[in-house]
Amino acid sequence: MTPHRSFFSIQPEKEFWVDIYRLMNSIVQPRPIAWISSLSAAGVRNLAPFSYFNICSMNPPIISNSIFFNRDGSEKDTLRNIKATRHYVVGTVSFDNAEKANLSSAPYDPDISEFDEVGISVVERGPGKPPFIADSPVQLVCELNQALALGEGAGVGNLVLGDVREIWITDQYQNIDWKQGLPPELLDNVGRMGADLYSRTSDRFSLVRATVPK
Ligand SMILES: Cc1cc2nc3c(=O)[nH]c(=O)nc-3n(C[C@H](O)[C@H](O)[C@H](O)COP(=O)(O)O)c2cc1C
Repeated sequence: MTPHRSFFSIQPEKEFWVDIYRLMNSIVQPRPIAWISSLSAAGVRNLAPFSYFNICSMNPPIISNSIFFNRDGSEKDTLRNIKATRHYVVGTVSFDNAEKANLSSAPYDPDISEFDEVGISVVERGPGKPPFIADSPVQLVCELNQALALGEGAGVGNLVLGDVREIWITDQYQNIDWKQGLPPELLDNVGRMGADLYSRTSDRFSLVRATVPK
């Protein structure tokens, strides 16, 4: 590859935030997607995908999501629900369920359940508990650690940290040694890229972890 020695600069504070948002989404990619099941204080089952998602602590396991304020500055249902109830479930998004995950991102009113509207089956876990997503083979049962508003207004993020209390894996993977990690071809996770693009994880390569040469 030809080395890049000359660059031009863009300063976010001088630009319209939506242009920077589009640019950043095209740079920081592919991003994993958390499909978040939560319950409103009134008990409405909510579901939405979030790709500003990662692991931020391993011992104990903590995951991060960033949930932006809506364009009118209000809280998304997921953020409001997590702050109100402190409990949520994260399902994985595969090639097979990506379309449903996308459909669940439509801005339904808080009293409407995306599970019902999109036609996504739930696995009930009892009263007061957000359900599992039957389309996802793995469910992370999380409890809010902290939610940090990074400011206020349209597009501003809320960093949501969740303690992973339980990891539930489909019985279909019962014969797999989960201590070695789950085979990526089974999960078939997709990644979120810029614009309306997604990536698959079927094209893989391996690199042995580097050590300091002796
Ligand atoms: C694949 C995908 C990833 C998304 N990632 C995020 C994200 O990381 N943060 C965010 O605030 N919104 C994200 N969105 C938009 C939310 O899903 C959308 O605003 C949704 O309506 C929120 O639902 P809720 O109001 O029920 O919480 C994403 C949408 C899609 C399709």
